[in-house]
Amino acid sequence: NPLSRLIVISNRVSAPQPEQPAAQGGLAVALTAALRESDGIWFGWSGDIGARHDLHFETYGGVTSGTIDLSEQDIEEYYNGYANRTLWPLFHYRLDLTEFERTFQGGYERVNEAFARIIAPHIDADDLVWVHDYHMIPLGWLLRQQGLANRMGFFLHIPWPPTRLLVALPDHRRLVEALFAYDVIGFQAEEWLESFRHYVTHEMGGTLGPDDTLTVGGRTIRAIACPIGIDAQDFIASAASATARDVQQRMRESGTGRGLIVGVDRLDYSKGLAERFLGYERFLDEHPDRHARVYLLQIAPPSRSDVETYQNIRDSLDQLSGRINGAHADIDWVPIRYVNRGYPREALAGVYRAARIGLVTPLRDGMNLVAKEYVAAQDPADPGVLILSRFAGAAEQLTNALLINPYSADDISDAIDKALSMPKEERIARWRPMFENVRDHDVVWWRKRFTEALEAV
Ligand code: G6P
Repeated sequence: NPLSRLIVISNRVSAPQPEQPAAQGGLAVALTAALRESDGIWFGWSGDIGARHDLHFETYGGVTSGTIDLSEQDIEEYYNGYANRTLWPLFHYRLDLTEFERTFQGGYERVNEAFARIIAPHIDADDLVWVHDYHMIPLGWLLRQQGLANRMGFFLHIPWPPTRLLVALPDHRRLVEALFAYDVIGFQAEEWLESFRHYVTHEMGGTLGPDDTLTVGGRTIRAIACPIGIDAQDFIASAASATARDVQQRMRESGTGRGLIVGVDRLDYSKGLAERFLGYERFLDEHPDRHARVYLLQIAPPSRSDVETYQNIRDSLDQLSGRINGAHADIDWVPIRYVNRGYPREALAGVYRAARIGLVTPLRDGMNLVAKEYVAAQDPADPGVLILSRFAGAAEQLTNALLINPYSADDISDAIDKALSMPKEERIARWRPMFENVRDHDVVWWRKRFTEALEAV
């Protein structure tokens, strides 16, 4: 049977662009390859402001994208509002930061309806439709309203919250019911899938069936755990590139023999950055002998800066890093290098490879690909140590990391100490199975696993 055409729909479109010919990031690479092979289309927001929901098609590098402008009000209510001030904090267990506004919900539904109306005419009956992430939960249902009977899947890139948190969302039932318009729903981790099943069985009277099926009121769908990976081959190659080697050399020279601990995260409260700094401070307090022998490099590009909670995290980290450096630095040593910008993949790979410790401590994370990139970038003969939050989806796969509770400064401090003293044999023994997992369960494996489930419908 000929390859079905793949239609991808997500808020951000990262198809290759003339300014950026190689698609960035593992997800972009995996989807781009599938879109190119099947002659598919990637739909989403253009990133531009426009009052009329104009749809622009563009084909570049063999991949077609169809992007839609959003008005200022759309962006405020749908993206900054419902997506990033309601769903994002709630789904990351931060009920304290979750804002409930009727206008946000209205904007979210309005934008999803607009996407459905604009995209539906471009979808053929045999196309596989794959919708991504929390910005677009009701889209499948809205596409069905437009008359589409296609095979449709949804993948959630972030956690699914426990029922007792989700029920705080006004109209939670409506949101989850909309998910039953899809044929297959994918989650990053077993834990998120379990929470989803709990909601469906306890709040909707649904039942579990064989093969990961769930039935509610006569409608049966499949809900699977399908952990996303990185483009492992490419990342391994990046770590061996000339750029990565240059960066490693720069790190060696500027680090003057000190052990590098690295963190790389979008500036987001879910990443546990303040807790990480406090854990590192605890380590400095408890191990004066290690002063000036290590340093923490925290790379944290700003994100969603129109949202107040994101502005607050930025302020608090500026303060915290300043205070810790002021209290502990010496004339020739600064304990934290804190950098608010992003770096290209090859440079990051060099930084990871130069680092004795990868410090990945989100308070809650759907997956966390930095953990996987850190593992992929290591020198097999002398790998560094991954310290990983047990609350990241990645902890279900990377079980040989030093798994910690990111809320505990003591836990972080002890893990740093343990990692710095870890003998090479143990580092290799822990790294090897993690590397195999990252290599074998890469982003192409993930994409195939999901699309095969969808094709089987
Ligand atoms: C997370 C989400 C993605 C999102 C990304 C960057 O990984 O799961 O859907 O694209 O963050 O956030 P932004 O708001 O800049 O798209």
